[in-house]
Amino acid sequence: MATAAQRIDSTLAPHARRLAQARIEALVSADAGRPHDYALRIGGLYASFARQRLDGDARAALLALGEAAGLRDAFRRLFDGATVNTSEHRAALHVALRSALSETVIARDAHAEATAARARMADLVAALEASDVTDIVNVGIGGSDLGPRLVVDALKDFGTGRFRVHFLTNVDGSDAQHLLAGLEPARTAAILVSKTFSTQETLLNGAVVRDWLGGSERIYAVSANVPRAEAFGVAPERVLPMWDWVGGRYSLWSAVGFSIALAVGMDGFDALLAGAAEMDAHALDAPLAQNLPVQHALTAIWNRNALGLSTHAVLPYDERLALLPAYLQQLVMESLGKSVTPDGVPVGLDTVPVLWGGPGTNSQHSFFQALHQGTQTVPADFIGVVNPAHPHADNHAALLSNLLAQTEALANGYQAEDPQKSYPGNRPSTLLLLDRLEPRSLGALIALYEHSVYAQSVLWGINAFDQWGVELGKRIAGELLPAVQGEDVAVADPVTRALLDEIRARTAR
Ligand code: F6P
Repeated sequence: MATAAQRIDSTLAPHARRLAQARIEALVSADAGRPHDYALRIGGLYASFARQRLDGDARAALLALGEAAGLRDAFRRLFDGATVNTSEHRAALHVALRSALSETVIARDAHAEATAARARMADLVAALEASDVTDIVNVGIGGSDLGPRLVVDALKDFGTGRFRVHFLTNVDGSDAQHLLAGLEPARTAAILVSKTFSTQETLLNGAVVRDWLGGSERIYAVSANVPRAEAFGVAPERVLPMWDWVGGRYSLWSAVGFSIALAVGMDGFDALLAGAAEMDAHALDAPLAQNLPVQHALTAIWNRNALGLSTHAVLPYDERLALLPAYLQQLVMESLGKSVTPDGVPVGLDTVPVLWGGPGTNSQHSFFQALHQGTQTVPADFIGVVNPAHPHADNHAALLSNLLAQTEALANGYQAEDPQKSYPGNRPSTLLLLDRLEPRSLGALIALYEHSVYAQSVLWGINAFDQWGVELGKRIAGELLPAVQGEDVAVADPVTRALLDEIRARTAR
């Protein structure tokens, strides 16, 4: 049987060769139907792939690749709770947090547990709303921070205004120092979010917050390790569950989103989940040709493996989505940053590109120069919102015109007499357009990326749900901690030893 790499290479290489000199502008002008044929609409979300550097035959080949890789079955397996996370022998049932689209026992049980946990969370939200707490501090890192932080920020127009919600993440003590300085212990509650309840950063910051609060009375926890949360001092009735069948970076739909529910209310939280559920049903049921996450994933594979593009930019033209690139860095790069298959053999082709980005139009005045005239072609996802939630119509028109202008300029380029003033163009992009940025559409957008990531992992034949690559640094940091604290312990690495000597010599006493 062909490996994923062989399948991708044999399917795409002929088209990559054929299109080696193709220009996006020429592909567009050769096909009057392209703007419509290369677009999909799912509810309030429109996606245009018309400015990707591929044609109808290449798209057909990509679809064949999706069929050959068994994407349809793969989605069914995901929703049914199959052990898709093979290295940890786990299902990845984040879809069960918001959808009931499977009849398997494991998926139904997961959905029932998620529903029960949400009901408990709603009670805690109501109790906090009835208290005199004004400020909430979410203590967590990675998936226990980035998702809630993104959603709370993106949905600020939908905030109930009942609480100010803050995020404490970095083990760097200045994060806690500056945040807590502006808060009042008597009016603050903290949520310690940690699936494992063993993450160094969260436990240290949690201890700082507990000391600052003067006890655990207003500390809540969300964890799959309830005994550890209780041992930390959190009362059982204030511990909400997580499960090993939800990956941290896929967990904002669970009680990990407690801070979201406090910010936008349970109705807003439920609408977020409903939007994701809409995308779930679409991912599971839509034919591959009309399947938005699948088309998004196939485009990513094309850019990475057929065109050999090694980075990917995410460019939201909406200030409320400014944190989306950071969120997607974890979702995409922690999921797809793999170079061996679950059998331990090299994948045999390039996998995840470096994902980066920033909001427009700010980024236009920063790194867009390199996007337009740099030596590397950077494919991009542009994300826009048709209807703003503010009354500043002129600002919004300027924002949208810049969004449209950039995708056009990157694709078409411009030839000037002076090469320094020429733009090579032919830089591919996808445009995602939301009718409005609201809980439902945001849920659908995030779920789109989750499902695209999963489809890419299936196409590459890698496990999207483990992250062994983060462990080595954690272990070495644990070994070095006593040395940094001044203990006389053996440090084997000569460079690290020299650096420790330098730190010790410079440490103020
Ligand atoms: O270090 C990586 C990681 O394990 C992420 O995958 C996870 O989201 C984050 O740490 C936080 O983990 P936890 O929720 O267990 O504190």
